[in-house]
Amino acid sequence: MRIDVVTIFPGYLAPLRESLLGRAADAGLIEVALHDLRSWTHDVHQTVDDAPYGGGPGMVMRPQVWGEALDAVIASDSRPPRLVVPAPAGRSFTQATARAYATEQRLVFACGRYEGIDQRVVDHYSRQFPVDEVSIGDYVLVGGEAAVLVIVEAVARLLPGVLGNPRSAAEDSFSDGLLEGPAYTRPEVWRGQAVPEVLRSGNHGAIARWRRDRALERTAKRRPDLLAALPEDRLDAADQAF
Ligand code: ADE
Repeated sequence: MRIDVVTIFPGYLAPLRESLLGRAADAGLIEVALHDLRSWTHDVHQTVDDAPYGGGPGMVMRPQVWGEALDAVIASDSRPPRLVVPAPAGRSFTQATARAYATEQRLVFACGRYEGIDQRVVDHYSRQFPVDEVSIGDYVLVGGEAAVLVIVEAVARLLPGVLGNPRSAAEDSFSDGLLEGPAYTRPEVWRGQAVPEVLRSGNHGAIARWRRDRALERTAKRRPDLLAALPEDRLDAADQAF
């Protein structure tokens, strides 16, 4: 997968070259290119923003500089892009979005700052290829950069070969619509607390049932909205207690 990020703070995206993502890049599974938006400005101050039409606080990012930047970045690779614009007013980014993005050949991220990017940029590119404005949660960040780190990490770990054990991605929270239950490792007793007996029983059926019950219990307590949204056919007879 090819990932392009256009930002006024390329240094902010340095973590994309670390850890799991760095290894995925080294292995050729993802290819990341960072682009400094200011290199498409033409004035000495490298201005990227201007006052909003209609008044109000904050500044809006200028469409000309974004247009030149995105035209050049998109033309720099032949794979068909999906443009992703992180914004608090976007559609929610979820595990389902991550799974959909993991099937794309190319994601191009446009990081807005200030009060956002002139809307005509999104409207213009939407006529050429898929464009999504996405929010990573109901809170406001200073810019899209931290959101890009979140989205790229969530997507990259789903790509074949990125995780050591592909079952981790298949079995984690949200993959079955539920939160994951608790996990334990050695020692058997730590500070007076024993690992639940059933996990040491070797009875795989009982272990699977126990894990399912803990996932249901945790989801009911912490995220009743997820449980309520679960289609009937995703619950079995033994689940009905929750
Ligand atoms: N930019 C500012 N706030 C954001 C959010 N919650 N999600 C995505 N991008 C943002």
